[in-house]
Amino acid sequence: MRHFWLLLFSAIFLIHCQGPDNSPYPLIPSTLVDSAATNQSMIVSAHPLATRAGLSILRVGGNAVDATIATQFALAVVYPRAGNIGGGGFLVLREPNGTAKTLDFREKAPKRAHERMFRDSLDQVVSAWSLEGPTASGVPGTVAGLFAAFEKYSALRNWELLLTPAIQIAERGFAITASEANRLNRYQADFKKWNSSSFCPMIKDSAWQPGDILVQRRLAETLKRIQTEGPDAFYRGALAEQIEQFMDTSGGYIRQDDLNAYEARWRDPIQVDYKNYRMISMPPPSSGGIALGQLLLTLEHELRATDIFEPQAAHAIVEAERRTYADRAQYLGDDDFVDIPDYLLDSSYLRQRWKSFDPNRATQSTQIGLDSIQIHKESFETTHTSAVDADGLAVSLTTTLNSNYGSKVMHPQGGFFFNNEMDDFSAKPGVPNQFGLVGSQANAIAPEKRMLSSMTPTIFEQDGELYLIIGSPGGSAIITSILQVFLHLTEGRLTLQEAIERPRFHHQWLPDHIMIEGEHWPDDLGQALQTKGHQLDTLTHLGLVKAILKRDSLYIGAGDPRSNDHAEGLPD
Ligand code: DON
Repeated sequence: MRHFWLLLFSAIFLIHCQGPDNSPYPLIPSTLVDSAATNQSMIVSAHPLATRAGLSILRVGGNAVDATIATQFALAVVYPRAGNIGGGGFLVLREPNGTAKTLDFREKAPKRAHERMFRDSLDQVVSAWSLEGPTASGVPGTVAGLFAAFEKYSALRNWELLLTPAIQIAERGFAITASEANRLNRYQADFKKWNSSSFCPMIKDSAWQPGDILVQRRLAETLKRIQTEGPDAFYRGALAEQIEQFMDTSGGYIRQDDLNAYEARWRDPIQVDYKNYRMISMPPPSSGGIALGQLLLTLEHELRATDIFEPQAAHAIVEAERRTYADRAQYLGDDDFVDIPDYLLDSSYLRQRWKSFDPNRATQSTQIGLDSIQIHKESFETTHTSAVDADGLAVSLTTTLNSNYGSKVMHPQGGFFFNNEMDDFSAKPGVPNQFGLVGSQANAIAPEKRMLSSMTPTIFEQDGELYLIIGSPGGSAIITSILQVFLHLTEGRLTLQEAIERPRFHHQWLPDHIMIEGEHWPDDLGQALQTKGHQLDTLTHLGLVKAILKRDSLYIGAGDPRSNDHAEGLPD
């Protein structure tokens, strides 16, 4: 009976994922749908097949949590640069009655980790050790997190079904997009450095082309084990043994006792009011909720224009960001290990912090902190899914391997990439990580501690009702990307698509310059900010926002035109 049900569901999923020529898992068409509207349920993710995996679960009676889980497992297959079972993430959820919860499935430092593990004998940080290879990985949290969400919130109560789409796609293969082909080509040397073609399907002697089929048999086998045995398949038993064996022989730190001890944690959200809106976001070990909260509480009083591209408004936003990221560096870390001051979201503290603001001049970051630093140029990627179902259950989930394909190390038997999340710790006070973020003792490495994150899955209410489900990749720029989309919507009255399309800017205290998206950046704004003493640095993109906006009884979903995002709803 169980097999009949799984087969029937597989057939339904296949039908919904067929291309015009009836081939399964078609090449991503040029007509990508990055926005959609529906009055029932909606999913926005980084890949059409992942969105459709979630929709197939909604069709058979799953709720937004079930659908998000299926989407995440599918992303582990179709979006290997960031979708994962070897990484971690955060989930923010709002029940239809307004109850809000967050789930922390962030990676943890292995028990054998120590504060100086990424420093050489001269106490110099060796960033390669935290960025690539087996030493870079924290204990993965994704499988435990998705199962914890399932246990508490699933309507379908059928774990096996949630993995079916992902397993099918991994086994049969799917046609890769042009951008995935480019990336797979770009990282060939890294894949070959750490893996062998006998187990890593990303390794190819000729160049990957758009439309090539990527089959991941070992990953499919691992997902099948997780499908039948649950998270124990990953955290105990044969695979855990193989992970230990691999880590032990390759110089990595993760052992079976780390995997056995890993637990996802339900935590209370950070909630902050901005005018008639309420932000519901992630507490530590994410910096997202506190940082976005500080920005909103400051800008509620100090943003004196509806258009954030008005120079005085942009200046105020940059200066608020400067102060927020200085606090992030100084105070934030895993609060299971460190005491985070409880005044960071007090309006009196934020007013005091604002006293050094000069409406005509940029504050120098050195006046409120350390010296200038450089950003590592490695490219990185995280992935976010926003989902809502017909009952109004809203889910915002961000997950990551940190850099593209994480540590670049694939587990030989398991067929999945390990994260390089250890780089999110502060390897040494004042020394920047790959995002240019510096940290203090609060984010120093310690056994079983979670590294500080910028991932900010968030839900906003308006007048007590569900308003916006939002999140993004983008490392340190996640928080400011979400801020800008929110302000464009609420102050600028832009549509969701317009709000996401607008060029973004970002300041993170150090390095002391405004990062701007160069291509569509308004020149006059740049000049006005330079006149105030700001330095500008151009980047191709900041964040890839995926959001669902509720307008009356309609859900409007929008992905980011900077990416191959896909928004789709039911009924379609
Ligand atoms: O948790 C963090 O803050 C980072 N590991 C996120 C990495 C990221 O967003 C990379 N994506 N573009």
